[in-house]
Amino acid sequence: MSDEARRAWNAVSEWYQRKVTISLEDVHYGPISPGERELHLLGDVSGRRVLELGCGGGQNSIVLSKWGAHVTGLDVSERQLDHARKLAEEEKVDVRFLHGSMEDLAPLARQRFDIVLSSHALQFVEDWGRVFREVNAVLNPEGLFVFAMSHPVLSSGRWTIMEGRKVFVLRDYFDDAPEIETWVGEAQEKIEIPLYHHTVQDTFDLLLESGFRVERIVEPMPYPLKEMSEEERRGMPYTAEEYERLKSDDLEEPGYELWKRLPYTMIFKARKTRSLGQDRG
Ligand SMILES: C[S@@+](CC[C@H](N)C(=O)[O-])C[C@H]1O[C@@H](n2cnc3c(N)ncnc32)[C@H](O)[C@@H]1O
Repeated sequence: MSDEARRAWNAVSEWYQRKVTISLEDVHYGPISPGERELHLLGDVSGRRVLELGCGGGQNSIVLSKWGAHVTGLDVSERQLDHARKLAEEEKVDVRFLHGSMEDLAPLARQRFDIVLSSHALQFVEDWGRVFREVNAVLNPEGLFVFAMSHPVLSSGRWTIMEGRKVFVLRDYFDDAPEIETWVGEAQEKIEIPLYHHTVQDTFDLLLESGFRVERIVEPMPYPLKEMSEEERRGMPYTAEEYERLKSDDLEEPGYELWKRLPYTMIFKARKTRSLGQDRG
């Protein structure tokens, strides 16, 4: 079911955790974009039971635990979870990390959460309706479901070189066939990984059908990298060396002037309004 994502993330986990710089003081919602301290989507998490889906190296789960939440982090990749457990130990926080797929939350069926969070993991999953129904089943009444993902405009196209310039080419916004990316693992092996997307309307409708009300949609504009000091850039909740290149005015690169015209991340804040009961599954 989620074997492709599991294989791919096990193969690239070491490299990914070396490459990215993710805050252990703020919840991140995506690259070079504002985090929870600025967006205030989760509210006061102290004493709340939080489930993070696709927790990766555990950074968001660890931050939420530092903020007083009781956190469970779930991920399909064992290697990512190795990082998460090590990091939680180093940060001296108590987070429960579980191996599993967000498409099947039956192992958590006896538990209830106040908040379910997911940051840039949904795009690796094919059946979003199924995930939303699973989330409904583990949330308390009026519970919050906040998820960030690749913006569907960005995931319907790709950067490419055309006439010596780097341009963004939109494939087809309405085509929900996955974009197949080829990743290179630690052992230089090539791994094909499908990235899924839905239109904004489809995602909105799927949430409604799954017992949620959408309270907010956020499309954060990327941070103004060129105007930021070194210290401000270091303080971003999620960054990587490759984003430094965006400061370039060189048209061969997708510099900031191009980059800032395109939303990277889309965030949905939804609230559970009804239980699905027998409808689930
Ligand atoms: C881009 S990382 C995001 C992790 C973390 N939020 C971050 O930004 O580093 C995507 C994560 O989703 C996980 N993932 C992919 N498919 C999943 C699934 N079906 N269930 C749970 N986790 C999944 C991957 O293993 C990976 O750790």
